[in-house]
Amino acid sequence: MKIISTPLELKNILRENTKTIGFVPTMGALHEGHISLIKKAREENDLVIVSIFVNPTQFLKGEDLDKYPKKDEADKVICELCGVDILFFPKADDIYGRDEVSIVAPNVRGFVLEGASRPSHFNGVLTVVMKLLNMVSPTKAYFGKKDAQQLNLISLMVKQFFMNVEVVAVDTVREKDGLALSSRNVYLSQEQRKEALKISASLKEASDMISKGILDTKQIKSKMMDILSPLEIFYVEILNRDFEYIYNVEIGNSIILVEVKVGSTRLLDNIWL
Ligand code: PAJ
Repeated sequence: MKIISTPLELKNILRENTKTIGFVPTMGALHEGHISLIKKAREENDLVIVSIFVNPTQFLKGEDLDKYPKKDEADKVICELCGVDILFFPKADDIYGRDEVSIVAPNVRGFVLEGASRPSHFNGVLTVVMKLLNMVSPTKAYFGKKDAQQLNLISLMVKQFFMNVEVVAVDTVREKDGLALSSRNVYLSQEQRKEALKISASLKEASDMISKGILDTKQIKSKMMDILSPLEIFYVEILNRDFEYIYNVEIGNSIILVEVKVGSTRLLDNIWL
């Protein structure tokens, strides 16, 4: 595995590449969720490139940029074991200049849900993903369904900017007890971790209600809120796959999304129905 830290080095290595490239952008502190993306990229491509970059522009002032978990050495070992060909580890100065052109998330889809409580977050995500995709020029890029809104917006950007890459959506990996894996789970105390299980429990209840034929989104959301109480809820929402609000669950075209605060940690999860 080659470890590369500058865009120029990456460009030189890829200059004459004719092989298919699977690309997995991450912010590091890799866990089984990231690993499932890397494994899928490994299965489907000649070359696998993983980036680790804690992107400052997607953190708002006061968020956890400075204390975002960092496990560089362990991450290198994980990538090596997963058969990654190139690990791209850029520094902020290599990615951002002083007077920047940037991508602005769409007015509606970019500023609801996570975008409502974190305005400008998705501008930062889209801008860095655009830069990374341009640097790597992958055949396929892999993103987790766990960050459903991020995935939706990246797919939209790729489509609307006529970018030459296939976005691949990968299922959410969970702990045995249902908690979705996240780099931020390390912030949770044992007690808070137990509280966090209310998230997957609320989603499970929603899916049980739906399988009994209850499709009214208001009724489902209200039951979910009961289960999540007394956690601080940012949103519990049921949308179609275009991120539009719906009154009744459309089987095969809906997503139920939750974001809550446990202690001072924001956790999000969702299920696709
Ligand atoms: P990060 O949080 O490190 O996540 C990297 C990728 O792993 C994302 O596509 C995310 O959806 C996926 N992922 C995280 N947890 C997962 C889980 N439990 N199961 C499956 N996939 C999971 O998302 C980002 O970084 C950044 O915003 C990034 C896209 C790299 C831009 O900076």
